[in-house]
Amino acid sequence: MTDVASDVPSDDALSNLLHENRRFEPPRDLAAQANVTADEYDTAAADPVAYWERAAERLDWGSRWSEVLQWEPPFAKWFVGGTLNAAYNCVDRHVSAGHGDKVAYHWIGEPEGDTRTLTYADLKDQVCKAAHALTELGVQSGDRVAIYLPMIPETVITMLACARLGAPHTVVFGGFSADALASRILDCQVTTVVTADGGYRRGAASALKPAVDEALTRCPDVRKVLVVRRTGQDVEWTDGRDVWWHDIVDGQSTEHEPQMFDAEHPLYVMYTSGSTGKPKGILHTTGGYLTQCAWTHWMVFDLKPDTDVFWCSADIGWVTGHSYIVYGPLANGATSLLYEGTPDTPHKGRWWEIVQDHNVTVFYTAPTAIRAAMKWGKEIPAKFDLSSLRLLGSVGEPINPEAYIWYREVIGGGRCPVVDTWWQTETGSIMISPLPGVTAGKPGSAMTPLPGIGADIVDDAGESVPNGHGGYLVLTSPWPSMLRTLWGDDERYQETYWSRFPGRYFAGDGAKRDDDGDIWLLGRVDDVMNVSGHRISTTEIESALVSHPKTAEAAVVGATDDTTGQAIVAFVILREAAGDGGPDVVQELRDHVAREIGKIARPRQIMVVPELPKTRSGKIMRRLLRDVAENRDMGDVTTLTDSSVMDQIKTGLAEGGKADED
Ligand code: WTA
Repeated sequence: MTDVASDVPSDDALSNLLHENRRFEPPRDLAAQANVTADEYDTAAADPVAYWERAAERLDWGSRWSEVLQWEPPFAKWFVGGTLNAAYNCVDRHVSAGHGDKVAYHWIGEPEGDTRTLTYADLKDQVCKAAHALTELGVQSGDRVAIYLPMIPETVITMLACARLGAPHTVVFGGFSADALASRILDCQVTTVVTADGGYRRGAASALKPAVDEALTRCPDVRKVLVVRRTGQDVEWTDGRDVWWHDIVDGQSTEHEPQMFDAEHPLYVMYTSGSTGKPKGILHTTGGYLTQCAWTHWMVFDLKPDTDVFWCSADIGWVTGHSYIVYGPLANGATSLLYEGTPDTPHKGRWWEIVQDHNVTVFYTAPTAIRAAMKWGKEIPAKFDLSSLRLLGSVGEPINPEAYIWYREVIGGGRCPVVDTWWQTETGSIMISPLPGVTAGKPGSAMTPLPGIGADIVDDAGESVPNGHGGYLVLTSPWPSMLRTLWGDDERYQETYWSRFPGRYFAGDGAKRDDDGDIWLLGRVDDVMNVSGHRISTTEIESALVSHPKTAEAAVVGATDDTTGQAIVAFVILREAAGDGGPDVVQELRDHVAREIGKIARPRQIMVVPELPKTRSGKIMRRLLRDVAENRDMGDVTTLTDSSVMDQIKTGLAEGGKADED
């Protein structure tokens, strides 16, 4: 374990947060009709296993489980012996129940006027056709399928078609590079890739297929590539391997018998950054995952399936999109909105226009988006009628009280409760959050663990901290949608999550319990940054930088940023042979990282330095570098070989650098 302790924010650093004493009671009407009441906590506490069993009964099962939970720490099995089909639960059963005409998705493409509406019946037809097509391409139960698509209905259709066949999917965010895609395909031993010619982003067609072509030069096991025509861009074609979606899917039958799979059958693998360079393949299985996704979506968003229009603005390439665009809402038979593009295209009011035009009632987004909207000004949302909204959610990073209040007032008109939901790719669904009809929310606090969830904040020795103190967030009991392991790596699973505090799940987040016992999340305590709600490891970017021929050594830190939460700042030592690197070296390195990992990993700043501050044991003093990165306004790109950055580093070393050694 690295210098985790020194990264836990000091009590001083929290004092601002904790002077926040505003409270927002649930709106009376909402509370009166809320899906759950305060009793829920007691019921769950009395018998958590029975509580989850009831949640599982909301799904349709082929055969019932014989045992709810088999817990051999750190390996869990939920609903042992039960069988189900996730796609059947998300689609068919709603059609059978007479809701075929109900809208599953209002899809909105980025180009204005480009929309599609999919009812549950439409979705069922499409999923069945896609399942037949995948079968024709050789996909069988257990085979892995990589999905590298924009935010279009085919993305959801493909995920569900995979689930229907028992073929675990691994969705790779469309912003990732060919390299990142290749490493995921290899790690997951993928045999089939589903992609598109491209998608629309910021007003332009942006290609996807070339990245697949490039990735596959390194992935000989991929036999078939299914390609959706979205933008009409020219694509290179590999005969025998590449197949157009419209050629193979459109003519298939809309009838497809879903097979039942074991509750623990793998549903998907989602890669996320860890504190080493190699991304971790988080494995989610079927029964427990779907149970908790559906349950939390219904409880935390107080979902009224007949009247709500739910919009989660995340990308499907991240876990938030998996759980709250696809599996949770569909399992609940909800109507959702799916938007392809960015919030500022073609204008900065696009999101609010969509809320107005589609009468969105529940909106779920990330603090980084709220802060961007704050920057653009409240005049922009003021131009639209947002009165349909009744509930707002936040996820992905700590929401600062200022952003919370702005969200509540400007977007929610002061009448919508804000649920700040804490969870992770690993947890699969929401774990800590207010309940909108029950909790008096505090701006900036995720409040308390949901009913049925055990969480604690502990000190270095694993002792629970008293109210008013900070420490590490741990989860104290297994939960249905927990990751089961890391794909192909049980050992790393145990080591990463269960070795720091044996018997408890170490989340990697710092947290504080206030005087009332409510939880405030404080950010990561490991070498993982959170940039615009995306987890990126410092090591991963360091290795990308060092893979450039001009770089000798690199250190990366996450510096506080007004909009993105954290921003990536890199300190680089050039190789002697590279001289001063040339005038464009910083841009060259930034582009190199974008190419290696993806645009989201492109450092905001790179500072070229002659040396890096290290402890006596040779560990890079990231905390000091973070101070340097945060205390100076260096502009966008800065090359410094001698000057003030090094002075600051040296002063910092002299003054307090030793602390990092502890
Ligand atoms: C952070 C996204 C504070 C946290 C669902 C966690 C949060 C990481 C919150 C997981 C929140 C997520 N308040 N921090 N409400 N939600 N985080 O895997 O550091 O992309 O460990 O899952 O985001 O990010 P991931």
